[in-house]
Amino acid sequence: MALEIEQFMCRSDNFGVLAHDPASGETAIIDAPETAPILEAVDRTGWTPTVLLVTHHHGDHVAGNLDLKKRFGLKIVGPRSEADRIPGIDGTVGDGDRFAFGTDEVDVISTPGHTAGHVCYHFTRSGVVFTGDTLFALGCGRLFECKPPDMFASLKKLAALPLETVIYCGHEYTEANARFALSVDPSNSALKERAALIQSRRAANQATLPTTLIEEMATNPFLRAHDPVIRRNLGMETASDEAVFAEIRKRKDIF
Ligand SMILES: [Fe+2]
Repeated sequence: MALEIEQFMCRSDNFGVLAHDPASGETAIIDAPETAPILEAVDRTGWTPTVLLVTHHHGDHVAGNLDLKKRFGLKIVGPRSEADRIPGIDGTVGDGDRFAFGTDEVDVISTPGHTAGHVCYHFTRSGVVFTGDTLFALGCGRLFECKPPDMFASLKKLAALPLETVIYCGHEYTEANARFALSVDPSNSALKERAALIQSRRAANQATLPTTLIEEMATNPFLRAHDPVIRRNLGMETASDEAVFAEIRKRKDIF
């Protein structure tokens, strides 16, 4: 039986997520932006959280840690190199670590870029990845602690997952990301269609996540540095993919 997932908004634009394995009854919280909406989701679903998986140390991803730990006695797992900045952490993980979650199996993918220790959690049997602030729908995280080549390498790791992988992200940034994506890739018909859909979903106050890797590969400029049209639009036909990615990231920072 596949993972059941409850996604909801926290703070102004963070996502909260509960992931539940019905066979074992285990429930993971992915990041804890704040307590109240997570408690509401627990009530709504009837799932009792057993573990909190932290993607990175930023305050809007760990603010609920201690409160949730006190309430549920759950185990907090997060990236080893950020352990000293993650409240209540019990267990640490790094690249390539694998652990069981009920009947599923979680692969830890180290994705430095947004923060130096950022990790993503890939539930391999269900084909779901939680990418925190590394990969967004039509975007990627800002580079607070690393350089563009680090993030480029991290996104390449995510791009190597099976194309049908379902992606959950840390923030609802998709509408603004779509506007930027169109500025570097204006003739991409899949992107134009998606941008229109996103606009109507946001107008109806609906989430634009989850997404899929196949959709991101077709429309997310941060995964498309190899694309000849984008390269031509940037005047970078002969540059390396890494340099094109760096230019796209730079433009987004000032967009
Ligand atoms: Fe962050």
